[in-house]
Amino acid sequence: MNNGDKKSFAPVERLEGSITVPGDKSISHRALFVSAVASGISRIDNILIADDTMSTAQCLRALGTDIEIKDKTAVITGKGIQGFKEPSQILDAGNSGTTARIILGLLSTQNFFSVLTGDNSLRTRPMKRITIPLAAMGASVDGRDHANYLPLSVRGNRLKGIDYAMPTASAQVKTGILLASLGAKGVMTVREPFPTRDHTERMLKASGVDVKISDKIIQLACSQKPLPLNIRVPGDFSSAAFFMGAGIIARRSDILITHVGINPGRTGFIDILKKMGASLEVTNTRFEAGEPVADVRVRQSELRGIVIDDKELIVRSIDELPLLAVLAAYARGQTVIKNAGELRVKETDRIKAVVDGLLRIGIKAREFPDGLSIEGGTVKGGFVSSYGDHRIAMAFAVASVSSEKEISIDNFDAVSISFPEFIAIFNTLRPA
Ligand code: S3P
Repeated sequence: MNNGDKKSFAPVERLEGSITVPGDKSISHRALFVSAVASGISRIDNILIADDTMSTAQCLRALGTDIEIKDKTAVITGKGIQGFKEPSQILDAGNSGTTARIILGLLSTQNFFSVLTGDNSLRTRPMKRITIPLAAMGASVDGRDHANYLPLSVRGNRLKGIDYAMPTASAQVKTGILLASLGAKGVMTVREPFPTRDHTERMLKASGVDVKISDKIIQLACSQKPLPLNIRVPGDFSSAAFFMGAGIIARRSDILITHVGINPGRTGFIDILKKMGASLEVTNTRFEAGEPVADVRVRQSELRGIVIDDKELIVRSIDELPLLAVLAAYARGQTVIKNAGELRVKETDRIKAVVDGLLRIGIKAREFPDGLSIEGGTVKGGFVSSYGDHRIAMAFAVASVSSEKEISIDNFDAVSISFPEFIAIFNTLRPA
């Protein structure tokens, strides 16, 4: 990454137009993994081409999976969960927590040795949340702080299904365990403290796997064999959210975002914005490959500060909380976000990064151990650090649309992690 990639965003007169955003990151990762463990040829249209999903593709290639990607279509030749080969190199998940947590599940079922690492950020992020349940299933994983940090070494095994109550609500961990169960024996039960995005359950069902879901309990017979997939990935809600946010705070805006995934585990952002007074309509809801998809229209709205502390809602909006904090700068009164300590172990400490950025653009904000508070005010502009985190970079680009002066952001090329076309799409919304 080029540390010097600074980008400046000037305030806009208005934002308008109709856009689509690239394919969903979470679904794209899962499509690659499920296709790799299925036997046969899968075709995934509108797959996200970004650094994170390419980390997954590269790791799977190093394990012997044939993946061809052309014009946002991936053709994957899966050989079944026992069809992987021992990698002759260290697997590198780059910046991607999703790649790391999910692939650890897959590697744990393999009768070979592997080592997984990641970039400077990922090597500081907690992995015990996945290595503990995998060890309970019979895997042998080792690394710093009792298998908590990458690099981790994995000696795979024939695992057994367990009944596991996850202490932390994490869709990545849930997915790693569910994937591991495809190479295990017995029955696997996963209990979630709060419902997380259920893309994996939906995709496994679409590939013929019998998954039982009741309340927050997911159960399946181990060793089931998924069939190849033929799906189209919906637009990424988390990428669309930046333009929803920009549309709400930009003067005289009217934006339509079509073909956006609205998985209920992802849409807490909409519920929160509505509570803050935003004008936001979700129309034309339909289903594609088991996922709900819709069009979302946003217009400029007056926001009022609120308290966001409901744990279920926090899980359903976790990736959008930095953006919400930035939007709260434009709200009347104070906004408080609590019970969101997970933000500290994302690509960067997102509580610290957002508070730092808000202070630098003239907004009063304060950190708590598990959240932050923001006083709505006048966004003056200034120079902020993205901390090399894609979502922090884009959140502060959004902050610029109605700021007094421009906002400059360092390391803006971090957006290539999830949304390389961010600036190009943003520019189509500005009047010529
Ligand atoms: C993701 C799950 C969430 C989310 C991340 C993507 C996924 O992380 O923050 O951006 O694709 O499963 P956790 O599982 O750590 O909550």
